[in-house]
Amino acid sequence: MTQHFLTLMDLDKATLKQLITRAIELKEIQKSGEIFEPLKNKVLGMIFDKASTRTRVSFETGMAHFGGHAIFLSPRDTQFGRGEPVEDSARVLSRMVDCIMVRTFDHEMLETFAEHSNVPVINALTDMYHPCQLLADMQTYFEHRGDITGKTVTYIGDGNNMCHSYMNAARQYGFTLNVAVPEGYDPDASLLEETKDYVNIFRNTKDAVAGADMITTDVWASMGQEEEQAIREKAFADFQVNDEVMALANRDAIFMHCLPAHREEEVSTSVIDGPQSVVWDQAENRLHAQKALLELLMIKK
Ligand code: CP
Ligand code: NVA
Repeated sequence: MTQHFLTLMDLDKATLKQLITRAIELKEIQKSGEIFEPLKNKVLGMIFDKASTRTRVSFETGMAHFGGHAIFLSPRDTQFGRGEPVEDSARVLSRMVDCIMVRTFDHEMLETFAEHSNVPVINALTDMYHPCQLLADMQTYFEHRGDITGKTVTYIGDGNNMCHSYMNAARQYGFTLNVAVPEGYDPDASLLEETKDYVNIFRNTKDAVAGADMITTDVWASMGQEEEQAIREKAFADFQVNDEVMALANRDAIFMHCLPAHREEEVSTSVIDGPQSVVWDQAENRLHAQKALLELLMIKK
C-alpha cells in the first residue's frame, strides 16, 4: 500500500521520532557542504490552492538538494482550477511524478486525492491539519530543549489546522497540550474526544500557560477566513502572546509560531523578536524535516 502523509496519525510514534533524528542529520549534511542526492531523477508535484512562502520554498529547495525536481502547480494555470475531477487529476499526476504535495482547503478532497494516487501524497496544509509544520516544530523543540515527551505545550488561539495538528502531536510524541481558546472557536469535537487524555481546554491564557515548556500560537484568521478578520480580532483580543503571558510560563519556555505572523495581534513584537523566540530556526527546519519526510516516502526500502 502506498504510504501517504495526510496527518501525523499516518506514521507510527517510532517513525515520527526517527524523522526528527534524520532531519537533524540531513541539516548537518547540508551545512557541511556535502552533496547528497538520493532522489536524482525523481519528481515532486506541488499543488497549491492557497498561498505559501515557507512550504513552497522548503519543498522545492529540498528536492533540489536531493538531486530531484519539483513542479509548482496552481489552479490558475492547470486544469485543477477548471473542474477536472480530483480522482482523475490524482490518477494522471501519479503516473508521471514520484510524490505529490497538496495544499488545499477541504481535507476530504485531499483524502480522495490520496485514495486515487499510486504515489505518496503529502498534506502541505488543509483547513483541518498542517502536519509538515509539526515535524519542523518537533525538530526545533528537540534541538533547543531535548525530548518533548512528558513536557507541556500551550497553544493559544484559534482551534484551527495548527491546533488540530498540535493535538495529534501531543498523542504521538507524548506531551500535554493546553489550549487557550475563546468559546465559539474550539477545535474539532471528535478530535478533542480522541485526544482528551493529552489535551486540556482553557478559556484564558493565564491558567493555560502555567508550567508550560513551550508556547505557540497562530493567526486569528486563517487563509479563507479573511472576511472574518474584524470579528475575530474582537473575539481573540484577550488571547495575545505577550510578555505578561510569557512571564507566567516556565522560565526556560520557548516561543514558536508557524508564520506568517501578525505582530501585535496574536503575538507582541517583543515576544516574537525576543530571546525566547525560536521562530527562525523553526522556519528553517521546514526544509530539513521535509527532506527527511521525502526520503522516507520516496525511497523504497
Ligand atoms: N508556515 C507555513 O506553512 O508557511 P507558508 O504558508 O508560507 O507556507
Ligand atoms: N492557520 C494558518 C496557518 C498558515 C501556515 C492558515 O491556515 O492560514
